[in-house]
Amino acid sequence: MKRIAVLVSGGGTNLQALIDAQGTVLTSGKITLVVSNNANAYALQRAKNAGIDTAVVLKKECGSQEAFEKKLMELLDEGGIDVIVLAGFMTILTERFTSHYPKRILNVHPSLIPSFCGEGFYGLRVHEEALRCGVKVTGATVHFVNEIPDGGEIIAQKAVCVEDGDTPEILQRRVMEQAEWILLPQAVEKVCKEM
Ligand code: GAR
Repeated sequence: MKRIAVLVSGGGTNLQALIDAQGTVLTSGKITLVVSNNANAYALQRAKNAGIDTAVVLKKECGSQEAFEKKLMELLDEGGIDVIVLAGFMTILTERFTSHYPKRILNVHPSLIPSFCGEGFYGLRVHEEALRCGVKVTGATVHFVNEIPDGGEIIAQKAVCVEDGDTPEILQRRVMEQAEWILLPQAVEKVCKEM
């Protein structure tokens, strides 16, 4: 069993999908730690409800990006973590961090990369931009994380239709339901199994 840490910032529906997949889709790894950079993230409650250890690391308390990443690395290394999943983790990690875990960090992004990705494209912003551009198909991508924001090797993608009258919120929900929550557990299982 690989030891998985999930890094979160907000509601944690992707974390919930991973928790729910344990024992069915996700059998080669176990979530042993959830780390948030936001003390109020509902994702922390989801982890506690599932009996998973949690930690909060605040960038402003660390004082610098470097100290923030060092603290994260300490927690992950102390926990013997094999695989790190960014599930709605709304902060960029630099090469100092990513180069420490080559092909061991996964991220879920709510578009078909290379569309609507990179710095500044996160959460609802991605779907607002997809609607502004008038694309008829969008989706989600799970990829390895390297020093380029949303630029690491793609592991899995799933397309989702944009429909007339979609708002960013409606489209976000459809992309989550039809793509992210299915794709992420499958991709994490694949990486754990092949590691
Ligand atoms: C998800 O849609 C995830 O793909 C996105 O934020 C949302 C988090 O929701 N991540 C990014 O935009 C990263 N660039 P959740 O907290 O309910 O899982």
